[in-house]
Amino acid sequence: MSKKIAVFVGSLRKESYNLKMAHALAGLAPPSLELEIVDIGRLPLYNQDYDDEGKPPEAWTAFRQRVKAFDGVLFVTPEHNRSVPAALKNAIDVASRPYGKSVWARKPGAVVSVSPGAMGAFGANHHLRQSLVFLDVPVMQQPEAYIGGAAQLFDGEGRITNEKTREFLAKFMETFATWVARNSS
Ligand SMILES: Cc1cc2nc3c(=O)[nH]c(=O)nc-3n(C[C@H](O)[C@H](O)[C@H](O)COP(=O)(O)O)c2cc1C
Repeated sequence: MSKKIAVFVGSLRKESYNLKMAHALAGLAPPSLELEIVDIGRLPLYNQDYDDEGKPPEAWTAFRQRVKAFDGVLFVTPEHNRSVPAALKNAIDVASRPYGKSVWARKPGAVVSVSPGAMGAFGANHHLRQSLVFLDVPVMQQPEAYIGGAAQLFDGEGRITNEKTREFLAKFMETFATWVARNSS
């Protein structure tokens, strides 16, 4: 049976390179992985009062339940001021609470970061890894995926134009499939 992987895209814009990358990765993944993008754009900002009062927003509850049902997690993110975009950090925070009820723990994960810049959003990639380590997500160490030059990466249909990059990403997804199989509980 294939493993279900939740994909979180750190950009909310329609023409996002990261969203295009998420779709491309879904196409490149081996059949043992089934990728599904989970929307993070409508989650109210985390406020612990709502949990303490026992009245979490419906969107939080639905998101927590949805994430819990997946076998693994894949983050595809740009970099905002050398760190994780606020929308993605909020989603991580929402699903990590209430205290002791985090739905992230032990879900095998991987990070792909994408930027038009040369450094491939390295800063966001590693800040994200820091949170994931704390949340007990076994994050695939290798290969690392810092994808720069995103403005030149896709054709009009969102396909990756560079053969070497496509090969690298296919290999990345194959290794992730092995990682998920090895770290599944
Ligand atoms: C608030 C903000 C901060 C940004 N900071 C960075 C940055 O630190 N490093 C970087 O490479 N690009 C940065 N960018 C540019 C993004 O990489 C660029 O907008 C990219 O297209 C966003 O990803 P997307 O195409 O998936 O939306 C920033 C963009 C915004 C809106």
